[in-house]
Amino acid sequence: MTRALPITGATRLAAVIGDPARHSLSPAIHNAAFDALGLDSVFLAFDVPRGQAPAALEAVRTFGLVGLSVTMPHKADVAAAVDELDDTASALEAVNCVVPVGGRLIGTNTDGEGFVRGLQHDAGIDPGGRRCVVLGAGGAARAIVLALARTGAESVTIVNRTAASAEVAAQLGAPVARVGVPADIARADLVVNATSVGMGAGAGDLPCDPDLFGPDQIVVDIIYNPFETALLRSARKRGALAFNGLSMLVFQAAVAFERWTDHPAPVPAMLTAVQDQLAAEPSVDLAAEP
Ligand code: ATR
Repeated sequence: MTRALPITGATRLAAVIGDPARHSLSPAIHNAAFDALGLDSVFLAFDVPRGQAPAALEAVRTFGLVGLSVTMPHKADVAAAVDELDDTASALEAVNCVVPVGGRLIGTNTDGEGFVRGLQHDAGIDPGGRRCVVLGAGGAARAIVLALARTGAESVTIVNRTAASAEVAAQLGAPVARVGVPADIARADLVVNATSVGMGAGAGDLPCDPDLFGPDQIVVDIIYNPFETALLRSARKRGALAFNGLSMLVFQAAVAFERWTDHPAPVPAMLTAVQDQLAAEPSVDLAAEP
C-alpha cells in the first residue's frame, strides 16, 4: 500500500507490541484505515520481549502515541500496568488495546465486540435470544463468552478440553453461561470455535464431531489461516452457514481505531488490506495477532 500523505514532523504514531509482532496483520489494517480517512498517522509493529510491557507503555506516553495494540504475551501485563481498565478489560484481566486519554492510559479489550460486529457483518444477526456454544476457554473464547452474554444471548455453553478453564469462562458469562458437553452443539443456534484446533500446522484437525452440525445453524471459526478450516467445510456440508475469523480480526481493529481516533472505522478498506496481505503472505504467523 502506498501512503497518500507525506510523512512529516507532524505525523503521529500508533503501534502493536508482541513477541513476536513482526508478522502481525495490524499494520496493514490500521495503515489502510488512516489512509482511507486521510489521517496523518502511521502504524508500526514492535517486537517487545516478555516482561517489557511496562517500558513499552512508558514509550506510549513519551512519544505521544495515538494508540497501542497489544498481543501475546503482553495482554495480562499491560492490564496490570495501565492507569485504568474499562469494564471489559477488567473482567478479562487482559488488554488488547490501550487508549491514551488526557495523559492517562486506558486499557480495553476489543475482541468480544469485534466478534459480535463481525457476526453482524457476516451473518446479519445479533446474538440476542440465541443459544450459543463456544468451543474453547482461552483468552479469545473468554472475550467472546463475555460479549455473547452481554449482548443478550439466551444461553452460552462452553465446551472445552480442560474443565477448570471452562468454569472460569462460564463465571464470566454468568448467569446465562455454563459448562457443557459436545452434545450441546446439536441444540445450538450459533457455534463458535475459539480453540486453536485447525490452525496452521494442525490444518485438517476438527475441534468437535462435525455430525453435530445441521441446517439453520451458524458456525463461526475464529481461525482465518487457513481461510477455510476443516470445521467450516464440514459444517457447510451439513447445511450450516459458516464463516471464518477474518471479520473478528478486522472488527476488533475497527473498534480500537474508533476508540483512538473518534472516527467511524473505514471497514471496507481495512478488510481489503487484510485480504491483500493474507494473499501475499499466506503463511503469516497467527500467534502474532491481538
Ligand atoms: P487464545 O488466547 O488465542 O484464545 P489459548 O489461551 O492458548 O489461546 O487457548 C487455546 C484454546 O484452545 C484452549 O481452550 C485450549 O484448550 P485447553 O483449555 O484444554 O488447553 C484449546 N485447545 C488447544 N489445543 C487443543 C486440542 N488439541 N484439543 C482441544 N482443545 C485444544
